[in-house]
Amino acid sequence: MVERQAMELDLLSSSLSETETPLGVVTLVEGDDLPALVADAHGAADVKAERKKQALVFPAADGGPERVLTLGLGKSEKLDEETFRVAGSTAAKRAAALSVDSLAWELPSNTGEVAPELAAAAFVEGAILAAYKFDRFKSADPDSPKPPVLGRIVVTSAGGTGPVADATRVAVVAAEATNRARDLQNLPANIVNPAYLAGRAEEIAAAHDKVTVKILGPDEITDRKLGGILAVSKGSANEPRLITLEYNGGGDGPKIGFVGKAVTFDTGGISLKPSAKMEEMKFDMSGGAAVLEAVAAIAELDLPVNIVAVVPSVENMPGGSATRPGDIITQYNGKTVEVNNTDAEGRLILADALTWAVRDMGAEKLVDLATLTGAVVIALGSTYAALISNDDDWAAKVDAAVTAGGELAWRLPLHPDFKELTKGRVADLTNAAAKRKAGTIYAGSFLEEFTDDVPWAHIDIAGTAWDTDREYFGSGATGFGVRSLIALARSL
Ligand code: BES
Ligand code: MN
Ligand code: ZN
Repeated sequence: MVERQAMELDLLSSSLSETETPLGVVTLVEGDDLPALVADAHGAADVKAERKKQALVFPAADGGPERVLTLGLGKSEKLDEETFRVAGSTAAKRAAALSVDSLAWELPSNTGEVAPELAAAAFVEGAILAAYKFDRFKSADPDSPKPPVLGRIVVTSAGGTGPVADATRVAVVAAEATNRARDLQNLPANIVNPAYLAGRAEEIAAAHDKVTVKILGPDEITDRKLGGILAVSKGSANEPRLITLEYNGGGDGPKIGFVGKAVTFDTGGISLKPSAKMEEMKFDMSGGAAVLEAVAAIAELDLPVNIVAVVPSVENMPGGSATRPGDIITQYNGKTVEVNNTDAEGRLILADALTWAVRDMGAEKLVDLATLTGAVVIALGSTYAALISNDDDWAAKVDAAVTAGGELAWRLPLHPDFKELTKGRVADLTNAAAKRKAGTIYAGSFLEEFTDDVPWAHIDIAGTAWDTDREYFGSGATGFGVRSLIALARSL
């Protein structure tokens, strides 16, 4: 694993004009007075408070920042956390464009309906996410050296730093965990294979006292009759792993199961995918990456919860020993499945992992994250993940955590009609219905068969895990789910 440089965060109970920094950032709400630092500066006439208006001004030379970036936030009543996340993102991008490695931001006295500490947390999060780059495979160019990475954020808060300190600390941990998940997603499949992810889980356990790891290799997966994982991995030279992490921070409290799909490359298998954009299928381990890095963050925050994480990891390849369309397999819980489409592989490995989480790890509630269906991209684009659940209370709790984490999910319904589609012709179930209807819900209905009826929430992140073009992500990996799982653990 390539180490990323940690972001240094400083909180000062002072005003921006008392900081010496190459870039000071002032966010402005319409109708509010300009702070003196800006009002008295050269260029102040260009400053605007309308949403997304920005200007660089240069303060008179008696200390303070070398230059000031003003960012318009718009009307006070329209402020939300996302406004501050986007402002942090803009600030970080401007810092990069100016080739500076630190910035200072003044927490404004008016944050509208948003609690000041949540505004600060969102700003810091947006800055760290936007400063992420995946450029380690680009050879150095002597003519245009790489600009420095943002390494330090100063938040000044004249109103005291207590709650702000707590909230921004969580934001730094969550954003850095998200960026680590993005690394795992962005790294190609000739590096990130099931054994690599298992190694990352071992690193996480080694770094945190309350985390233990157990990895099952191909022999144990065979012995334990994890038939879904076996069936999908059979065509690949890269052997499967069932990765489990346990975080024990909550004493005798309940165990929550996090399950993440980790197909390190999805060719579709014998039901081969078309070649256009197939390279994107290195991201098919996004759910597993999010689960692993969320556990690392939860341990770093020392949250008082118990988590069992299960990440089934395989490579889905065609080959002489690959599963064929029509093959019948037996899942870990004993149900039989006709594999009518080898490209519907995620549900087969998740099925075993969900049952494993309940029966072997003692999970009392489940959340799974998976890049499961192309259909979710059609339904909800890159804006919302789909949430499917067998339990209204648990669904509401998970949905609230997703929102608190700064992410978006939309619940889709289960219904007996969809369950009907999952019935097999000759086996209990089929992994791909003859009728292509409600593909995302179909997959959810299939998974429900393997949950032992404990409260379960499935999050389909096929549309939100990459290329969302959100301001603070741009193209490529987003680490979707890391912040939601941390927020869920904080809410328990
Ligand atoms: N990993 C894919 C889902 C996916 C598709 C993720 C596009 C991101 C972008 C999954 O394994 C898959 O291939 N699903 C099939 C299921 C179908 C064969 C029933 C799909 O959605 O087309
Ligand atoms: Mn597939
Ligand atoms: Zn897949």
